[in-house]
Amino acid sequence: MLLKAHAKINLLLDVLSKRDDGYHELIGIMHTVDIFDTVGIMPSLRKDIIVECNELLPKNNTAYRAASAYLNAAGIDEGVDITIEKHIPSQAGMGGASADAAAVLCGLQSSYRALDDAKLYEIGKSVGADVPFCLHGGCAVVGGIGEKLETLPQQNLYLLLVQGSAGISTPHLFSTYDNVAARKETKANIESAITACKTFNGNLLCENLYNALEFSAFELLPELKITKQRLLDTGAINALMTGSGSVVYGVYGSLKDALRAKAQMQVYGYGFLEVTTTQNKGIRFI
Ligand code: C5P
Repeated sequence: MLLKAHAKINLLLDVLSKRDDGYHELIGIMHTVDIFDTVGIMPSLRKDIIVECNELLPKNNTAYRAASAYLNAAGIDEGVDITIEKHIPSQAGMGGASADAAAVLCGLQSSYRALDDAKLYEIGKSVGADVPFCLHGGCAVVGGIGEKLETLPQQNLYLLLVQGSAGISTPHLFSTYDNVAARKETKANIESAITACKTFNGNLLCENLYNALEFSAFELLPELKITKQRLLDTGAINALMTGSGSVVYGVYGSLKDALRAKAQMQVYGYGFLEVTTTQNKGIRFI
């Protein structure tokens, strides 16, 4: 079977505290975007899990770990062949590795129907903090380290996503963040952002786009701040880094505006430059 594993962006991300296990308690709003990896899943009688991808992946990658955790939890003594065709940029803050893991869990679940939803989400969380959201899809308030989800209505946004040559490692950014005193002065207004989503008030939502990790990311990779300003200069209503970066996106009033901005941004030679919308609800079987 073939699945579309959709990427996400953060419309808001605030860090509440650091836990004893090193993870950070977050509150935020995530939205699925149209960009996706294609994940093929073929249960096999061989007992091993094989992951093939058009990009180099670590042996213990998220798709492998998701399959292994599912088969163990379900007590299934079989293997699986997984193929991943990557389109979601990596080290981007778009949840690419989590989306792949979520698609693997979804695919195995549709084959075996061996676990209930609560167990599926629990396995997802153990594989990566963004996997529960990727299983959920659409638009949601995300809390905890990423596992507490509250559904919000699907928004209708026109986005231009940009990534330069460098990615950002999530653990590295969080540890940089821990050393920056300015982090305590949060400007997030989650209530206002939630109201904006519930009332489909795009302007109010754009006013409330916020990412507490941006400041530290700009220190690590100053080009991000320049990219954000360039997006604003092309007429974006607002612009924000997603997740732990390094993708920065602009929100536009129409598809036409987003496409025009893309043409303007092309002169800078960015490695990844894509217009997308928020019309997909998450994982889809092809
Ligand atoms: O769970 P995931 O593999 O996506 O997280 C990668 C790393 O990002 C974690 O090891 C941790 O350092 C950091 N992280 C965090 N708090 C979160 C999510 C991720 O500190 N809520």
